[in-house]
Amino acid sequence: MRRPFIAANWKMNKNIGEAKAFVREFLRHYEKSGVETAICAPFLQLQALQEALSGSGVKLGAQNLYHEDKGAFTGEISGPMLKELGVDYCIIGHSERRTLLGEDDELINRKLKAAFRNGILPILCVGESLAEREEGREYVVVSGQLRKDLYEIPAEQAVQITVAYEPLWAIGTGRTATPDQAQDMCAYIRSALAELYDWKTASEMCIQYGGSVKPGNIGEIMDMPDIDGALVGGAGLDPLSLIEIINF
Ligand code: PGA
Repeated sequence: MRRPFIAANWKMNKNIGEAKAFVREFLRHYEKSGVETAICAPFLQLQALQEALSGSGVKLGAQNLYHEDKGAFTGEISGPMLKELGVDYCIIGHSERRTLLGEDDELINRKLKAAFRNGILPILCVGESLAEREEGREYVVVSGQLRKDLYEIPAEQAVQITVAYEPLWAIGTGRTATPDQAQDMCAYIRSALAELYDWKTASEMCIQYGGSVKPGNIGEIMDMPDIDGALVGGAGLDPLSLIEIINF
């Protein structure tokens, strides 16, 4: 049985004071349920969030990690450092990092391995650009990302990965993929995972949709058979809106 999983991706938003204020308001309305919930915050806010969320059942997520565990890597943050702060999840391969920071699939593959080495659960983002969709290449692009990102990652680990399908044209644009478009690609992702591994593994893996998810559209998205959750950007910055999304 796959468990619904909603993760907020705060991106580069909120200082420590704002993060604490968010959690105070959020926890006033949050009730533990069968929905796994995580807040993926900037590195500097993680410690404050870890303390504020302690005992609530809400999981702590980071948005990136370096692929080596220690050494001369100025400005980077490693898996062991995140683990020490109590980080449960880490977003890996978000399209903003792929496009703005040049992260490629080989690096993303190393980051996935670094996460597992340190007991951190990856949320792996994949998705096509508008141009790629218009050229009819969305399936080739996404299956290529999966194949390279998951290279040499065994099924026992893969089954613990959350794959977030985030079409670039739907991120922060207000233009959501229709539930049918999102379902279509998430079903395709599951079949691609079955090819890389096997059907049992693929059927147990959590697949999220991400891209302009909000309280008004989460219900129809979660109704889709291959969509197990959502990675929420803008709408996850407001505590009450995130509560509404979790209570889809
Ligand atoms: P959005 O961002 O919900 O603001 O579109 C989603 C994401 O980039 O994870």
